[in-house]
Amino acid sequence: MSKPIKITEGFYYLGGSDRRIALFENVYPLSNGASYNSYLYVDEKTCLLDTVDVAIEDAFYERLEAALDGRSLDYLIVNHMEPDHAAGINGLLLRHPETTVYVSMMGQRFLLNYFPELKANVKPVKEGDTLSIGKHEFTFIAAPFVHWPEVLFTYERSGKTLFSADAFGSFGALNGDIYESPWNFDIAEARRYYANIVGKYGDQVKAALGKVSKFEVDLLCPLHGPLHKKEDLPRLLDYYGKWANYESEANGVMIVYGSSYGHTAQAAEELAILLAEKGVRDLVLYDVSKSEPSFLIGEAFRCKAIILASTTYNSGVFVKMEDFLHDLAAHAIRNKVFGFIENGSWAPASKAGMLKILETTKGNTFLTHSLTLASSLKKAQEKDLEEMAEEIVSILA
Ligand code: FEO
Repeated sequence: MSKPIKITEGFYYLGGSDRRIALFENVYPLSNGASYNSYLYVDEKTCLLDTVDVAIEDAFYERLEAALDGRSLDYLIVNHMEPDHAAGINGLLLRHPETTVYVSMMGQRFLLNYFPELKANVKPVKEGDTLSIGKHEFTFIAAPFVHWPEVLFTYERSGKTLFSADAFGSFGALNGDIYESPWNFDIAEARRYYANIVGKYGDQVKAALGKVSKFEVDLLCPLHGPLHKKEDLPRLLDYYGKWANYESEANGVMIVYGSSYGHTAQAAEELAILLAEKGVRDLVLYDVSKSEPSFLIGEAFRCKAIILASTTYNSGVFVKMEDFLHDLAAHAIRNKVFGFIENGSWAPASKAGMLKILETTKGNTFLTHSLTLASSLKKAQEKDLEEMAEEIVSILA
């Protein structure tokens, strides 16, 4: 028996958590699962906002039927058609064929792509359209590419509630409490979620943030992670503003090295020691071979300077470093300062290879100083490393 969770009178949370899921989108590791959020209004008419992943469907249906208490389901608003929220729509409509589906024009296309045999009343909506169900009235806001092109946000006027689809979501299961709390919300996991899931679409996120800034919001209801109350919004919006602009959160330095036998790693470690001696405190080192890429992408969004140390491999970039840089470029990383250490016993080529990938990105700059190692860091190169460290400190000022 799973019960709906009451948010306010006639407004319920029907979602839940999957703690068994190991990979979000079958890509991103989850140490603590994920939640899939769905919401129901029971008013003169009843209206469901999004469904849940098939993994937690049984509990969802129990919550839904308990909240409906024998009433029909008049409306389903589909803010996002990705299957972690929408795979169950066909099943829902078989149980509730009376339901009219409100979805964006493009979302309607996706709906029929996923469910070609679907028999349903579908009403495509556009920016500014409204739906009243009694005391509650919904306004639809187009939010293309946050995260897919069909995405809608929905604003409920009486409760000043914004349903923000994937935006403001986070990895991680909920712990009974559905609201943001230190136990329910980890900003590092919210950042990793943002950077990897919607990070590529910073411009579109900015456009959506601009639109919703016109609405007064007392409660933010994303499709993943906890709900955010009014008092928690300034901090979250501050983070989102920075992430959408690819601004660094702090003067952080991230050193990532790819090293087969430890010599390139040694140079990276020595650089880190120099930086620490010069007072840099927000300083993180990662072995690219041992670090899961989505964590590196999250850190890259957070830090201002990204120093890449790579051995030469197959006359190019160390293979794991090459993968990471393609991933960074795919996430449209911007406004960072990159520096390079390359290593090559006979024909160093990794700096040129790393630059070639990063030159496909926009708005990044590169340190003047770089370092080339012939197999290992030599004492005679101490000065070069020192100069590189000084340049990094100067850009943090
Ligand atoms: Fe949680 Fe883009 O789906």
